[in-house]
Amino acid sequence: MRGGRAVELVPRTAEHARALFPLIFRTPVCDTLLWDGPASEEEFLRDYPLGKGEPSHRHFTIVATADGVPVGSLSIRPGTWPERGDIGYWVGIPFQGRGLGTAAVARALEVAFGEMGMLKVEACAFLGNDASIRILEKNGFRREGLVRRAVLKRGRWLDEHILGITREEWEARVRSEPDPY
Ligand SMILES: CC(C)(COP(=O)(O)OP(=O)(O)OC[C@H]1O[C@@H](n2cnc3c(N)ncnc32)[C@H](O)[C@@H]1OP(=O)(O)O)[C@@H](O)C(=O)NCCC(=O)NCCS
Repeated sequence: MRGGRAVELVPRTAEHARALFPLIFRTPVCDTLLWDGPASEEEFLRDYPLGKGEPSHRHFTIVATADGVPVGSLSIRPGTWPERGDIGYWVGIPFQGRGLGTAAVARALEVAFGEMGMLKVEACAFLGNDASIRILEKNGFRREGLVRRAVLKRGRWLDEHILGITREEWEARVRSEPDPY
């Protein structure tokens, strides 16, 4: 395990949901997510702890190590082949720009390539979501392409970058770099 540890990924709880609801509901965080955010607090409190996706998906709360505060959410989602999956994540606006998103992606790679046994991890970011692309590239992801008209969001078709990192690339980084995040 690499040890900068600005954040931990913690299995989601109802308490996390209560803390995170104001950070996601009707905020600009949803502008760059596939998901448009919860329709209501009731819906979020019901769905957040277990998630609504496939049982193989792993859903976490991003918790700041310094003070134990929930700051966002991250999911790791095996695909058609369980060895190839993708990640999705968000950090609440008051907590952005402090390196927590970068650290969360670093932790996610440890889980995905470690206990989940993945060989390839991908992530998609809407064209223009440069903060997300930045945190992926800081973690060794490479841009693999721009998918045009990838996503229909709020009535508009959006282009999306796909980025990825292989197990071999990640292992080489872990071997060669002191733990940055
Ligand atoms: C993307 C997101 C998770 C980043 O979280 P964060 O905690 O702010 O990330 P960090 O602080 O670790 O790093 C942000 C990096 O992006 C850079 N950045 C921020 N805004 C930027 C912009 N508009 N253009 C280019 N780079 C930008 C920062 O400078 C920083 O890079 P640096 O450390 O080299 O200076 C957060 O902005 C977020 O939740 N956005 C809304 C939801 C979302 O887009 N999720 C991802 C979907 S693909």
